[in-house]
Amino acid sequence: MNILIIGGGGREHTFAWKIAQSPKCNQLFVAPGNAGTAAIATNLPLAVNDFEGIKTAVIAQAIELVIVGPEDPLVHGIHDFFLADQQLKNIPVIGPQQSAAALEGSKEFAKAFMKRHNIPTAQYASFTPDTLEEGIAYLAQMTPPYVLKADGLAAGKGVLIIEDLAEAQHQLKAMLVDQKFGAASSKVVIEEFLSGIELSCFVLTDGKNHKTFPMAKDYKRIGEGDTGLNTGGMGAISPVPFADEAFLKKIDEQIVLPTVNGLHKDGLPYCGFIFIGLIKVGDRPMVIEYNVRMGDPETEVVLPRIKNDWVELMQATAAGRLNEVDLLVDPRSAVTVMLVSGGYPEAYEKGKEIQGLPTENESILFHAGTQLKDGKVMTSGGRVMAVTSFGEDFGDALKTSYATIANITFEGMNYRKDLGFDL
Ligand code: AMP
Ligand code: GLY
Repeated sequence: MNILIIGGGGREHTFAWKIAQSPKCNQLFVAPGNAGTAAIATNLPLAVNDFEGIKTAVIAQAIELVIVGPEDPLVHGIHDFFLADQQLKNIPVIGPQQSAAALEGSKEFAKAFMKRHNIPTAQYASFTPDTLEEGIAYLAQMTPPYVLKADGLAAGKGVLIIEDLAEAQHQLKAMLVDQKFGAASSKVVIEEFLSGIELSCFVLTDGKNHKTFPMAKDYKRIGEGDTGLNTGGMGAISPVPFADEAFLKKIDEQIVLPTVNGLHKDGLPYCGFIFIGLIKVGDRPMVIEYNVRMGDPETEVVLPRIKNDWVELMQATAAGRLNEVDLLVDPRSAVTVMLVSGGYPEAYEKGKEIQGLPTENESILFHAGTQLKDGKVMTSGGRVMAVTSFGEDFGDALKTSYATIANITFEGMNYRKDLGFDL
């Protein structure tokens, strides 16, 4: 079958790499893709929110399956757009419909969902410009640090964690009244601060059945020892050593099952990936957030460990037959190290030539912000490339990634050399 992947980062290159291995895939397209996907698929120069452009391409290329990578088109209703169109309605889309994508599109919606289904998460209350004074009073009776979250999508920047009460109250006003994060912060969720170690859980569901993927841990801060600014992710590891069998059982019973059943009970149509951001508080898993997509760079370590034919897995999901599938997982550890542009996550330069890319290697290179220009691979984003390797444990796998990275250069290249330091 002909398949279209929507998106253009490391996650989408990983999907493409996995799908290209399937004998069931005839022609593979990625919109917009990057230099990595260009080598194994056909890139289509379309923005992820250009639904009309995507429709034209789907018809022209006789696409039979669409896999949506990022949250933006899902929160904007791409699945609903397909269902409402006579020519597109029978083409399966992997990704939730808009009403269910609100799990990521609205923090308040996600919190209310968790409360309704008894899913462990931080205590919270939400406020609007009309209830600013109540919000200021609510903060005053909480214990620091204060967690303030813009309700809507804010490109990963909408969460503030603040020690000082007066500053938290000031920021609440800045979010609600001065629209610090635009319309996304016209509602703000204030929550209890949870202390613990975070991990990412990915679930594939067809709306009734589900498969839980292997756990992963990502490293979000730019600096070693988890210091400095937040990034889109500097690397990831799977499996997560502290997530032992007893802890995984708690995740399944207390979080994954109530989530999948809750979606079903609430009539929220969900055929796709659920990303559950977890935190281990004592020995208890709690939910920090939901995303309605796979994580990046977690995908770059989770997918290589899944041995199933990816097209078969997607077809079973679209057909509501996930109960008939056995998930086959590689027991080895996988790690990925993200190479980023100098200056990232603040202002950085792009358009640097990447040199020394190995053609054959023990690592797998997943491109994120890259672009082909006159046959050369150039940087085109902050996160440039994820270098994934396998090993008996994550330390072993890391050695292989770092050995591969030793050959690669571009002006300003930066990466973290301490992944797994906390495990
Ligand atoms: P989110 O966008 O919801 O993932 O939040 C971004 C980051 O803020 C998370 O990955 C956590 O590190 C942190 N965070 C969010 N909510 C809480 C909380 N209630 N307690 C502690 N840390 C939090
Ligand atoms: N790695 C975190 C995310 O994809 O949001």
